Amino acid sequence: MIDSDTCKRSELWRHRWNETTQLNNPFATMGRSSDSISDYFSYITDIINGLDGVNKSTVLLDAAGGCGYLSMYFSPLVQEVHLFDYSEEAIKRAKIDCKIFDNVHPYVDNLLTLVQTKESNILYHKILLGGALQYFDTYDEIEIILKNLFNVTAANGRIFVTQTTDLSRRDKHIASYQTLDWPEERIKHAIEEELTNRFWIDFSQLKTIAHSVGFKQCQQTKNNPNLFQSTHMFDFYLVK
Ligand SMILES: C[S@@+](CC[C@H](N)C(=O)[O-])C[C@H]1O[C@@H](n2cnc3c(N)ncnc32)[C@H](O)[C@@H]1O
Repeated sequence: MIDSDTCKRSELWRHRWNETTQLNNPFATMGRSSDSISDYFSYITDIINGLDGVNKSTVLLDAAGGCGYLSMYFSPLVQEVHLFDYSEEAIKRAKIDCKIFDNVHPYVDNLLTLVQTKESNILYHKILLGGALQYFDTYDEIEIILKNLFNVTAANGRIFVTQTTDLSRRDKHIASYQTLDWPEERIKHAIEEELTNRFWIDFSQLKTIAHSVGFKQCQQTKNNPNLFQSTHMFDFYLVK
């Protein structure tokens, strides 16, 4: 049973994502405000490799897909994209921005419950979960999310999860702020933000959870070294 009062980070971030959606910069709505266009396509290249490809018969679930700026890319490559996010504002914008891609279907849902997604009774062969695992408080929540996703994954189906904050690289990442030519107050604030509002995850603990949920594989992949996330985040895939 999920009680939103206990999901503190998740609710804080829902508020933030609703606000970020109002910004003009599409990359900001993806949490990638400093991306260049080549960074964006490098990210997509990592995703295609991580999903082990897609084809015209793929029905892709773009979980926590924000305003749909990855869904749009996948639209011509697959049969359908089912896109959800818990930010009502992001989905409002996705319904407008993705309108001309008539095989992209945006709706509101929450990784912690997955009520709408489960109701459609579809078992997905490919699921993308981009950049969302850092917004939770506990491994119990991660377990709930993995169980929910397991329940909507087809046998041998594959889930690719990007940008998970890596506990083993947290301290080095935090220390790197001290080398920046920023005012002291800004550095202090950035470090506080990293430590208070993100969940830093131990991959071996995550792997244990994934196997206990029933996934037969849980494997890290190499992310593009030019991307900002390569210094302190890992990508991984799950196979049911
Ligand atoms: C960093 S953005 C990534 C957007 C896109 N998936 C990507 O890879 O570029 C994280 C997204 O996760 C969504 N999100 C965070 N927690 C969620 C939850 N509990 N359920 C559904 N979506 C969530 C946010 O609203 C936001 O759109």
